[in-house]
Amino acid sequence: MNIAVVGTGYVGLVTGTCFAETGNHVVCVDIDANKVQMMKDGKVPIYEPHLDVLFERNIRQGRLSFTTDLASAIKDAQIIFLALPTPPGEDGSADLKYVLGVADDLGKIITDYKVIVDKSTVPVGTAEKVHAALARNAKEDLFDVVSNPEFLREGFAVDDFLKPDRVVVGTSSDRARKVMEDLYKPFVRQGNPIIFMDERSAELTKYAANAFLATKITFMNEIANFCERVGADVDKVRIGMGTDTRIGKRFLFPGIGYGGSCFPKDVQALAKSGNDAGYTFQIIKSVMEVNEQQKTSIIPKIKGHYGNLAGKRFALWGLAFKPDTDDIREAPALYVIEELVKAGASVTAFDPEAMANVKKLMGDKVTFAKDEYDALQGADALIIATEWALFRTPDFNRVASSLKDKVIFDGRNLYELDEMQKLGFTYMSVGRNPVNVPAKANA
Ligand SMILES: NC(=O)c1ccc[n+]([C@@H]2O[C@H](COP(=O)([O-])OP(=O)(O)OC[C@H]3O[C@@H](n4cnc5c(N)ncnc54)[C@H](O)[C@@H]3O)[C@@H](O)[C@H]2O)c1
Repeated sequence: MNIAVVGTGYVGLVTGTCFAETGNHVVCVDIDANKVQMMKDGKVPIYEPHLDVLFERNIRQGRLSFTTDLASAIKDAQIIFLALPTPPGEDGSADLKYVLGVADDLGKIITDYKVIVDKSTVPVGTAEKVHAALARNAKEDLFDVVSNPEFLREGFAVDDFLKPDRVVVGTSSDRARKVMEDLYKPFVRQGNPIIFMDERSAELTKYAANAFLATKITFMNEIANFCERVGADVDKVRIGMGTDTRIGKRFLFPGIGYGGSCFPKDVQALAKSGNDAGYTFQIIKSVMEVNEQQKTSIIPKIKGHYGNLAGKRFALWGLAFKPDTDDIREAPALYVIEELVKAGASVTAFDPEAMANVKKLMGDKVTFAKDEYDALQGADALIIATEWALFRTPDFNRVASSLKDKVIFDGRNLYELDEMQKLGFTYMSVGRNPVNVPAKANA
């Protein structure tokens, strides 16, 4: 098939590349001319494991190309994917200006039948709005609008896209349904389902899934906070409860809050959609409140240990909102940096992929190290904000000799308490007893 993907960010680029990989011809469109030039020069503009190999192969074999020109990109396309941003507007609802703006443009230029697929995460009722925007200028028999929310995870995006647990397609058109079925067949050969439903239910499925996952994490964060007060060990609780198959082992790891480009904005947008429909999502409201506090929950531990932070310098491992991505949108690490700097401390950070993005955003507010050990040189303590595999088994002798004090504040529970005890580190993590804490810090 000939496919156009409008918006070539984390979702659009993975979508376009993976569809090219299954033999389709894909043109990716973006308004960011620099990004498009970079891709034309053969460079992947984001860090996403395994994407570079597919990207390079499909460009070389002539199935994947890039442009800033919407009209030429969609000319021969049977399917047009919208993978556009839906950032939070001022009131917390998803801002649809990119999606509806492109829908409006498309209405003016389509001349033969196209399936227009909304892959962005959008509130219930958006497919109808996209339809109306197109119909302002295009005859209704020239297009169908389909909702096809994306469930990929950054860091596993290529794998998730090529072998999805499920594909959700919201459409009331038999013609569009057949096109979508043919397109996705190669991705579900193992027997995972393509689930067809109406557009509204498809749109809500994405929000419900993300809000549920954010709730699961937040629930565990609250259990961890409680563990800290009563001397229980959240790791033991996690394993004890997660082995119940009704609960499941995944998404039960406590930490310093969820971040990223999806959970915070999607949870907020669902709450706003609820309000608009006269319904208050009580659980979701609490999830947002708890997560807001959780993002900086490590700060009172640091202040509890040092008292005044003015003049202290901290090494920070991890900036991305999670491992295996360079995405720093709503990353808890950024909130931690802000609080430390506000308290008069300085931060030397290391992240395997996300430093360039933080530099663009924060400039001189933080110093960047050349590797994880370099960040430790002369720092008062180490803070861990992202669970990159690289940080899991460091050379603790090097860590100890580089730091001024053998102190680690771990927002991701990377290390065993026994080991920290043996190595003589003062170690404070999430939902577990502090290790080797001097009496004054416990007071
Ligand atoms: N990132 C994820 O993990 C993820 C997962 C599932 C769903 N989603 C959803 O997918 C959508 C896209 O997310 P993303 O993370 O890929 O966003 P992104 O910001 O990485 O990419 C969006 C791209 O769209 C481009 N763009 C903006 N306006 C345009 C226009 N008028 N024409 C062409 N291009 C335009 C931008 O330049 C950018 O490259 C959002 O709704 C998001 O919620 C994201």
